[in-house]
Amino acid sequence: MTKLIAPSILSADFSRIGEAVELAERAGADLIHVDIMDGHFVPNLTLGPQLVADIRKLTRLPIDVHLMVDNPRALVPLFHEAGADWISLHVEATAHLHKDVTMIKELGRKAGVALNPATPIQSLQEILGEADFILLMTVNPGWGGQSFIPSCLDKIRALKAWIRRDKLEVPVQVDGGIKLDNAEDIFRAGMDIAVAGSAIFAAPDPAEVIREMKRIAARSAADKDHLT
Ligand code: DX5
Ligand code: ZN
Repeated sequence: MTKLIAPSILSADFSRIGEAVELAERAGADLIHVDIMDGHFVPNLTLGPQLVADIRKLTRLPIDVHLMVDNPRALVPLFHEAGADWISLHVEATAHLHKDVTMIKELGRKAGVALNPATPIQSLQEILGEADFILLMTVNPGWGGQSFIPSCLDKIRALKAWIRRDKLEVPVQVDGGIKLDNAEDIFRAGMDIAVAGSAIFAAPDPAEVIREMKRIAARSAADKDHLT
């Protein structure tokens, strides 16, 4: 499976988000990851559908909306309308996961199921075959710039082993604390899509970080010795 890089604009300068998106596309990013926080599911507040609609005009890359909100179902139509291509929601935030995933798929968008670090992968049992991708949080959601939680590496391995065992194609997106110095280990554990915010946008040369992450991704995908 091709390994992808999804820069998270959460760590970009919010007064110049358009420039960050254009830079990411020029540097070879595969997706633009947009973090939506509602001040309830997570303590922070971020962006809304208007911003997604404006970014939509600037880039041809798929826009990957990560809903860290309670009652995500209520917001899915707004982000669909705004032009989101991938939409993920948290198992912890909805009592009707199957219904919500089905709604996203019926809208013709890719449906992702996200888990917080302490939520076991077993909670995916009845949805793994339905989801278009799984998002494993490797920090507690709410802010960029936190450190990768080391125990999550085994969680990524376990999920990937399960996906392989069941001969599924569902990609594993990993979000939180991914830097140039740990990306290779995380890819080797089974990550297919790396979300990275501060590693890119807090760096002096964000484009070079994206290019280097792409090189690491390509190397990890090409290495026949690793397990994924
Ligand atoms: C955190 C968000 C992440 C965040 C990652 O709650 O879901 O997407 O932008 O930022 P870094 O890469 O700085 O951990
Ligand atoms: Zn995110």
